[in-house]
Amino acid sequence: MLQHFDPNKDYGTPASLSEKLVTLEIDGVEISVPEGTSVMRAAALADINIPKLCATDNLEAFGSCRLCAVQIEGRRGTPASCTTPAEQGMKVSTQNEKLAKLRRNIMELYISDHPLDCLTCPANGDCELQDMAGAVGLREVRYGFDGANHLDAPKDTSNPYFTFDASKCIVCSRCVRACEEVQGTFALTIDGRGFDSKVAAGQNENFLDSECVSCGACVQACPTATLSENSLIQMGQPEHSISTTCAYCGVGCSFKAEMKGDQLVRMVPDKAGDANHGHSCVKGRFAFGYATHKDRIRTPMIRDAIDQPWKEVSWEEAIGFAANRLKSIQYEYGRESIGGITSSRCTNEETYLVQKLIRAAFGNNNTDTCARVCHSPTGYGLKQTLGESAGTQTFDSVMKSDCVLVIGANPTDAHPVFGSLMRRRLRQGASLIVADPREIDILKTPHLGDSVHLPLRPGTNVALINALAHVVITEGLEDTDFIAKRCEPEAYAKWRAFIAESRNAPEAVEDVTGVPAESIRQAARTFANAPNAAIYYGLGVTEHSQGSTMVMGIANLALATGNIGREGVGVNPLRGQNNVQGSCDMGSFPHELPGYQHVADPVVRNRFEKVWGVTLDDEPGLRIPNMFDAAIAGHFRGLYVQGEDIAQSDPNTQHVEAALRALDCLIVQDIFLNETAKFAHVLLPGSTFLEKNGTFTNAERRINRVRKVMPPLSGKEDWEVTVDLANALGYPMNYSHPSEIMDEIALLTPTFTGVNYEKLDKHGSLQWPCNDEFPIGSPIMHVESFPTLEGKGHFAVTEFVPTSERASRRFPLLLTTGRILSQYNVGAQTRRTENQVWHHEDKLEIHPHDAEERGINEGDWLGISSRAGQTVLRAHISKRMQPGVVYTTFHHPGSGANVITTDNSDWATNCPEYKVTAVQVEKVSQPSEWQKDFAANNQRQQKLLSEAGASSGE
Ligand code: SF4
Ligand code: SF4
Ligand code: SF4
Ligand code: FES
Repeated sequence: MLQHFDPNKDYGTPASLSEKLVTLEIDGVEISVPEGTSVMRAAALADINIPKLCATDNLEAFGSCRLCAVQIEGRRGTPASCTTPAEQGMKVSTQNEKLAKLRRNIMELYISDHPLDCLTCPANGDCELQDMAGAVGLREVRYGFDGANHLDAPKDTSNPYFTFDASKCIVCSRCVRACEEVQGTFALTIDGRGFDSKVAAGQNENFLDSECVSCGACVQACPTATLSENSLIQMGQPEHSISTTCAYCGVGCSFKAEMKGDQLVRMVPDKAGDANHGHSCVKGRFAFGYATHKDRIRTPMIRDAIDQPWKEVSWEEAIGFAANRLKSIQYEYGRESIGGITSSRCTNEETYLVQKLIRAAFGNNNTDTCARVCHSPTGYGLKQTLGESAGTQTFDSVMKSDCVLVIGANPTDAHPVFGSLMRRRLRQGASLIVADPREIDILKTPHLGDSVHLPLRPGTNVALINALAHVVITEGLEDTDFIAKRCEPEAYAKWRAFIAESRNAPEAVEDVTGVPAESIRQAARTFANAPNAAIYYGLGVTEHSQGSTMVMGIANLALATGNIGREGVGVNPLRGQNNVQGSCDMGSFPHELPGYQHVADPVVRNRFEKVWGVTLDDEPGLRIPNMFDAAIAGHFRGLYVQGEDIAQSDPNTQHVEAALRALDCLIVQDIFLNETAKFAHVLLPGSTFLEKNGTFTNAERRINRVRKVMPPLSGKEDWEVTVDLANALGYPMNYSHPSEIMDEIALLTPTFTGVNYEKLDKHGSLQWPCNDEFPIGSPIMHVESFPTLEGKGHFAVTEFVPTSERASRRFPLLLTTGRILSQYNVGAQTRRTENQVWHHEDKLEIHPHDAEERGINEGDWLGISSRAGQTVLRAHISKRMQPGVVYTTFHHPGSGANVITTDNSDWATNCPEYKVTAVQVEKVSQPSEWQKDFAANNQRQQKLLSEAGASSGE
């Protein structure tokens, strides 16, 4: 029988990956399925739906409810179809009087201990218990409702996003298994036995105080209303849904936005999503309240100077004001005196338009993006070695890895859904190597197999990666076949001679890195000997003065061990923001047009010039730090910033603020009055991902559709505003829908050949490169060759050059930074949600030894001074770091994390060295001078905003 697979249907048990088929007969229907498929799934594939309660197809079968009983010819009894594997020649009956009676009896028992308040229950109409009562034809409950029951069981409302109503629990344990198998947190258990058994969070705590990370997997799995979203309880069942993509991190999870009219009831992770397969984290699943927060900027505003009140104006007036100012600046100071910054949070189409506006309407290449401060070294380093500026794998590829090396990334906090997948593979036995100054949570994965932590000192990545490669080469662990076939021989010979030098040996760098030589040797052997070894890295690699060198070092290690070009291996940058990959792909950098095509290449320029109808500048424009310097010097005077808060996210805040103050015209397009907007002359309301159409590209190069679920609060989607500005500047842009922008992108970007909305709708998502050979994309890159001149991988010599930012007597500690699960980036969105309950302030994590030396106790106010500035944070004493290293997050603007970071940056890309700042820490009793100024300026700007009659900001 031909099987039609519906990604939205629940087939009861997971798919079997076996390639061997078995054929069986179910209710007279013959069906062939992979060996290992359950009878329940085989039946569901044949459109025969066996009643079930404890089974669902993203969890292993458990066999507790017995509702799915069937009869099998030649077998005694009524086995559970969810736990019985299909066998060749089996004959199964799923419907007969005996089974019907059995199922009715089971349902009677459930219902007799269930509050019959269906009409007022939040799950009414979407309850599997209700459905099953109907499916088995339950008409009466003979046991009555007077016996012992759980109807008085208390509710747990501690979690801000969902409620646990124990009175409705049927103890199917789907929630417990979802927390273990899908999320990997193991926060729930079934406590007690028999009638007394109940679901318990942690050690009988409430959900909020337990280990629960609020991912929602248990809510998703619960077949009753026991675990329900609070928004559903308040608003009732949704009446339609629209598929879209999460706008938080670079995992790019697919969701169904479930709606009531234009009100969002809940975000449900989409089973059909290729990046998340129905899983989510607390941000995408629950933290969408910011979209309708009172702080949203809804009306365009202008002002002549930043100490004046804002004036609310029409879109026409705001755009006209901005265009006139930009034109007069260029008239007076020249074509190069203005520029723009694209956003890694906006869609590909919007980002493409902003860089086009700059190149075609401003007439220069002064475009840059926030990727400058995060993954620009990835772009450079991977291009130099592997020929393409992107990660090589799908997320699913990790399920084929035997060894996972995580460097400078914190997947369970910053890329949580991928972190859960990685944990699943680690539970299956893959070994884990973590190179990080801090003991990150992935090292605490329950049921983790072999693992090693290399707690290196901040700033010594390159010494460590070289030492790992040194062991591979000097112990003969390299993949000689791969190197001979796939790598450029001269570059390899040069690199080999360099890496084999004794100064790169683990013993030689032990003192520098702080990592015992034997641990490095062990890690290198584990990595090189694994059949499939994969590297995952993050900003702990890139945000260094040698960020690009380190990316190349990572590529070298993957090439040397032959770990490129198939599933389970590869080099995988984990991207922080939802569309960092896309903003880089779309030509946001000053030297590259979309698709990483250099502006100096006349053939490339010519193609763009023909389509855009202008002559393009052949010189790369200014990078963000150069724009700041030029602004302070007085020859850069106008800036358009879309969806990016440079005043908070860029290093050396005082310098950034001085640059922004020096501008004659700062145009900020954002959803809130962010820190940058406080220095702006034109404030254009931005639209959230819920209010627009477009695409995001995730860390796997996956182009996902973003679909509009509600009208923009300000009346315009972001791309429309850029179009208006271009037209006002005299450069005609004429699009009626973002799909037309994508068509233009596909025309001009070789790796996007043939990408269009129709194809995306048909396939769900596409992983670039898409070209004539691979029209629906390339999940794994570099399978046969590399996109370099000779098609070969290029080893690069990666000399370790210590950063100039070193600990000294005056600044004896090294500060490094990172993210936390509940907050996102500069926090503008998550700080306006209930996620605040988990992290309402940034703290300084300090080792007990360093704390004791300074007389510091938990919660003390600490003054943190660096060569660049001072700030004050509360102390959190933690053994996660080694002595000598302190750590903070950067989600709250008043924390001033970037007031203390220095001007150091990556030699190749100017990516700031956020991850190493030498500091001194001491107890204090009041905020720093910068924090006092910040608070005063914030108050002043809020007043100016409220005088405009607009909603008040932070
Ligand atoms: S929300 Fe997630 S982490 Fe929390 S109990 Fe449920 S499945 Fe576990
Ligand atoms: S809370 Fe829901 S999923 Fe968990 S055991 Fe109870 S009914 Fe089953
Ligand atoms: S993992 Fe990232 S993309 Fe997925 S739901 Fe969480 S924040 Fe959104
Ligand atoms: S669904 Fe098979 S035993 Fe519950």
